[in-house]
Amino acid sequence: MTEEVRVLIPEEEVGRRIGEIAGRINSDYEGGTIHMICVLKGGVFFTCELSKRITVPVSLDFMSVSSYGSGTESSGVVRIVKDLDEPLEGKDVLIVEDIIDSGRTLAYLIQILKQRGPKSIRICTLLDKPGRREEKQVKVDYTCFSIPDKFVVGYGLDYDQRYRNLPYIGIVEFKEDI
Ligand code: IMP
Ligand code: MG
Repeated sequence: MTEEVRVLIPEEEVGRRIGEIAGRINSDYEGGTIHMICVLKGGVFFTCELSKRITVPVSLDFMSVSSYGSGTESSGVVRIVKDLDEPLEGKDVLIVEDIIDSGRTLAYLIQILKQRGPKSIRICTLLDKPGRREEKQVKVDYTCFSIPDKFVVGYGLDYDQRYRNLPYIGIVEFKEDI
């Protein structure tokens, strides 16, 4: 079996779209501040590119969660692997995610973070697979790209910890060796 990655969204298009979303965030938060929470590891490339284009004052914190589940399905039972360094009390929090699939991981994360008294919580994601959503109450405020139900890699997203460093978003294709 050989693996091949086919480009789904080229680097230039990702960059252009992140710029657009940053523009919307800048006007929505005008006069305020943003406490960005990067969900590791997948959200790290997107967080960097997005935050560079934000013009209101930004503080950054990082969190790592692992979702129990088999293979590529998440279960919604989430364990905090690395917690935030800073408290959230009174802050305007923007959660930055790589991808929202079933929405289970995010639903759980929001539930935990709400208990810490932030002034507001909004969600920003690079990719969304709306067709896969199971948590209907998860409301995404900023989405760069809605994509079909295909397993994607690159720009932070991995397949078995590989391909995170690809500068574009691609689809892994498996080919039978002859
Ligand atoms: P959810 O809880 O089902 O929404 O799963 C979200 C998590 O599953 C993401 O943060 C990713 O880590 C992972 N995931 C879902 N779809 C993909 C994909 O297409 N490629 C890589 N990781 C994915
Ligand atoms: Mg993730």
